[in-house]
Amino acid sequence: MSKIVFENVCKVFDENLKVLNGINLNIENGESHIILGQSGCGKSVLMRCLLGILRLTSGNITVDGLSVNDESKREEYVKKFSILFQGNALFDSMTISENVEFGARQINPDKKACKEIARQKLLAVGLEERVFDLYPAEISGGMQKRAALARAISLEPEVLLFDEPISGLDPITGGIICNLLKNTVQSLGITAITITHDLKVAEFLADRVSVINKGIVEWIGLPNEMKNCGNEFAEHFYKASNVITKTA
Ligand SMILES: Nc1ncnc2c1ncn2[C@@H]1O[C@H](COP(=O)(O)OP(=O)(O)OP(=O)(O)O)[C@@H](O)[C@H]1O
Ligand SMILES: [Mg+2]
Repeated sequence: MSKIVFENVCKVFDENLKVLNGINLNIENGESHIILGQSGCGKSVLMRCLLGILRLTSGNITVDGLSVNDESKREEYVKKFSILFQGNALFDSMTISENVEFGARQINPDKKACKEIARQKLLAVGLEERVFDLYPAEISGGMQKRAALARAISLEPEVLLFDEPISGLDPITGGIICNLLKNTVQSLGITAITITHDLKVAEFLADRVSVINKGIVEWIGLPNEMKNCGNEFAEHFYKASNVITKTA
C-alpha cells in the first residue's frame, strides 16, 4: 500500500510540445484509481513519469514521501511498482512459467523457491498447469494477460499499474479479466492505478476517477458522479462513451 502524490507535474518534449501541464493528484493508500482521457492526452507519458522512465520537466511525484527526482533512492523507488503492459510484454523465448520465475527472481535469488512462487501465482490468476510449459505464442490473449498479471504480482509490488488492461480482448474475456484484476487488487490490498480510455473499465474498477485533458486533471470524483459532475469535458467524455456503446 502506498500513497502517491503528484505535485505540479510538467512534461515538455522538444519543440515545446507541452504534454503535462501541471498535474496535481493525490492517490490514497489502497485506492484503485483510474486515469481516464482521450487518446494522445498524455496518459502513457504520465505513467512513464511516475515510473521514473521519463524525467519530469518540473514538479514532483512522491510515493510514501520518496521522490521520483531523488536519484540516490532510485532503486528503492522503482521497486515499489509493477506494471501490466498493454501488450503484456511477455518474453517470447521463455515459457509461461519461466516468465513468472523471471519476475520472482527480481526479489528472490533462490531458483527453486521462484519456481514454486511462479506455480502459485499462475494458479492464483486461474491458469491451469497444462499451460505452464507452453510459450506465449501458444496460448490465447486472455491467458497471456493472466500470465502477465502473475508475473506482475510475483514482484510483490506496493503499487500495480495497468495500462489499457483489456484492449485487444473480446468483451467477454475483457469482463473476466476486469474481474480478475479487481479481485487481485482487493485481495492484495495494494494501491492500483489503471490508465484507460474505456469508461466501462473505469466504472468497474474505480474507487475514484481522474479525467485528464490538455495536460491537467480536469476532474476527480467517484465514477457514478461523472455523468452530472458539472465539468464540461468530463460530462462530454461520459456522454460520448455512451453513444459509442449504444451504437456499437
Ligand atoms: N518520447 C516522446 N518524445 C516526444 N513526444 C512524445 C514522447 N512520448 C509521447 N510523446 C507525445 O506525447 C503525447 C501524449 O502521448 P501518450 O502516449 O501519453 O498519449 P496517451 O494518452 O497514452 O494516448 P493513447 O490513449 O492513444 O495510448 C503525444 O502527442 C505523443 O506524441
Ligand atoms: Mg497510451
